[in-house]
Amino acid sequence: MKFNGSLALGVAAALCAGTVSYRVLAHGNVTPQAVDTSALPDIGETWLQHNPYRGNATATKIGESAYGQNCARCHGLEAISGGVAPDLRYLEVGDTGDEWYIQRYQHGSVRDGKVYMPPMGDVLGQKAGWAIRTWLETKHEE
Ligand code: HEC
Repeated sequence: MKFNGSLALGVAAALCAGTVSYRVLAHGNVTPQAVDTSALPDIGETWLQHNPYRGNATATKIGESAYGQNCARCHGLEAISGGVAPDLRYLEVGDTGDEWYIQRYQHGSVRDGKVYMPPMGDVLGQKAGWAIRTWLETKHEE
């Protein structure tokens, strides 16, 4: 009985911590880190639906560092999720996966007024988004 009680308390504390971090997010206190994408070919302003950099070694390198600075705190180091957010190693590869990926990257995820994931498109730009996707595909697992 005693053991069960403290277990329940621990769970409640964990849930509260989650709520707090979402509130901080909603107020925009998490600053995205700018990504230097000048080494990558320009792809214009219009958002593409498929990755123009797939397999590009420079994009992979830029994407790895951009992921570490902007995504890892939720999605986990090396794209291995600790459970806070989905594990991005399992995202579908190829064109179909690209469409879902870039939609989330660009607009984030807001449900019932809560920010689960902040939009990244305007702050980081699409070159950085596709670079991260290029790196993620090298980490893919079925
Ligand atoms: C503040 C935490 C947070 C950050 C930072 C964050 N995400 Fe997310 N992301 C989430 C959560 C939570 C979800 C699940 C959203 C939902 O369930 O509606 C998600 C979902 C996604 C999905 C869809 C995954 C799926 O399996 O459907 C993609 C793709 C994604 N994020 C990419 C990124 C990328 C790329 C970055 C960095 C540029 C990033 N995220 C930064 C929290 C975050």
